[in-house]
Amino acid sequence: MIAMNISFTGIKNHKSDNLFVCLKSSKFSSDFVAGLDKKLNGLLTKALSKNKWFKGKLGEHISVICPNGDYSAIAFIGAGKISSVKDAQKLGGTVSSIMSKLKFEKASLFLDQELKEDLLANLALGFELKSWAFDKYKTKKSDAWSCKNLAFEVISASYKEIKAAYDAKLAPLYAGIIDARTLINEPANVIYPETFAKHAKELSALGVKIEVLSKADMAKLGMNALLGVSQGSVNEPKMVIARWEGAGKSAFWTAFVGKGLTFDSGGISIKPSHNMDQMKSDMSGAAAVLGLMRVLAMRKASANVIGVMALAENMPSGQAQRPGDIVKTMSGQTVEVLDTDAEGRLVLADALWCAFDRFKPKTIVDLATLTGAIQVALGHEFAGLFCNNESLAKELIEAGDRVGEKLWRMPLSEEFDRQIDSDIADIKNIAAKGRAGSSTAAHFLQRFVGNTAWAHMDIAGVAFLEQDTELSCKGATGYGVQLLNEFVARNCEK
Ligand code: BES
Ligand code: MG
Ligand code: ZN
Repeated sequence: MIAMNISFTGIKNHKSDNLFVCLKSSKFSSDFVAGLDKKLNGLLTKALSKNKWFKGKLGEHISVICPNGDYSAIAFIGAGKISSVKDAQKLGGTVSSIMSKLKFEKASLFLDQELKEDLLANLALGFELKSWAFDKYKTKKSDAWSCKNLAFEVISASYKEIKAAYDAKLAPLYAGIIDARTLINEPANVIYPETFAKHAKELSALGVKIEVLSKADMAKLGMNALLGVSQGSVNEPKMVIARWEGAGKSAFWTAFVGKGLTFDSGGISIKPSHNMDQMKSDMSGAAAVLGLMRVLAMRKASANVIGVMALAENMPSGQAQRPGDIVKTMSGQTVEVLDTDAEGRLVLADALWCAFDRFKPKTIVDLATLTGAIQVALGHEFAGLFCNNESLAKELIEAGDRVGEKLWRMPLSEEFDRQIDSDIADIKNIAAKGRAGSSTAAHFLQRFVGNTAWAHMDIAGVAFLEQDTELSCKGATGYGVQLLNEFVARNCEK
């Protein structure tokens, strides 16, 4: 992992060799940059006027070598328009990409415009998120720039306020996102239900109450849908129930439930081998829930939140569940398992019911890499949102918009619901293949939440990517941690 050193300093005290100046147009306006320009006999003005294409748009940059000044190099970077957390983080991500292109190890950044402290702090977070890489299994650390220690300093007159905002809100967020990304990128021989649960237990140190249900505990509770999924694997399933009681005894509970398939081979309905390795990321929902719990505890959120993580491995074997098997869920409803690869909804059936029945939460939100069909519909840009409550849907979509984790509302409808009625049990776990597969999967889940205000986020298209994004390298994105943290901050805190 790249060791990073982020700091915030005043205009007088910074000490880096390289300076990034972020501009929103083709001109600078601050006294600080004007002073530098003067010292360099107008070199900066000249650089900008010679490069007329530079308009201050996000991603543009010009480098200036300064042999005689306080810096060895200055780079102008287009800042674009910064009006949200998302814009600020994107700029931070862009700065990180440019820094790696220029192979700077240390750099200071100055933004040539007034900006609220929390946005400047988010710029630093964006920089960190984009600079992070999962490289723990590379035994030969190369001399390449990316493996060195980076130092990055934000220069501002209000650096104390920025640092305070960063420490209180964003350092926790960074820790939670990286926690999720790490768990998702880890291979399935390292992270399986038991090791995932062990990792979750570390949150006890932060005041999160962690309960881990074993296979025997789950059998006692009648969680046969989850147990059926895991029965082909030598790795025993676990259910982690994490509780953060930040708002006191009388306040309402909000529950987040995550699909945690530490590997999904498809089971007896086995998947094609191409890209099957990516199914180590089928626990991205559970990882996002765990990351969220860390953020909430670290920033001492004044909300009561339950995190339920349904952990299992879906494998074929002589003991594996067969297509056609019927299981009785914890809720009492029976399910005909027509396709063992539609396993996410089975583990979630028992996890959702457990959250609903035991805690009677005001709201339940689940996150799951549930269907390939959601990738067909929404690609890698949006997660799919299915929701039985208008105001909940609105709040989630807005939270996502603010932090740049986009959600698109998808339909629930009685006709879809009828399609999962089984001929011989209460419910079947697949409807007609190739027909609204994400919606029928969502309806399956809805049968396990009673009348609770509930939302399901299908994150199969956004959790794990084969290409870099503005804020992450390829692999796990950590999608959901920021969105849910924002949702909790706006809707669940006192
Ligand atoms: N984990 C997969 C869905 C998935 C696909 C996640 C691609 C990430 C990337 C899920 O368990 C699954 O196999 N779903 C099936 C459902 C089908 C059998 C009804 C699918 O989408 O093909
Ligand atoms: Mg599957
Ligand atoms: Zn799956």
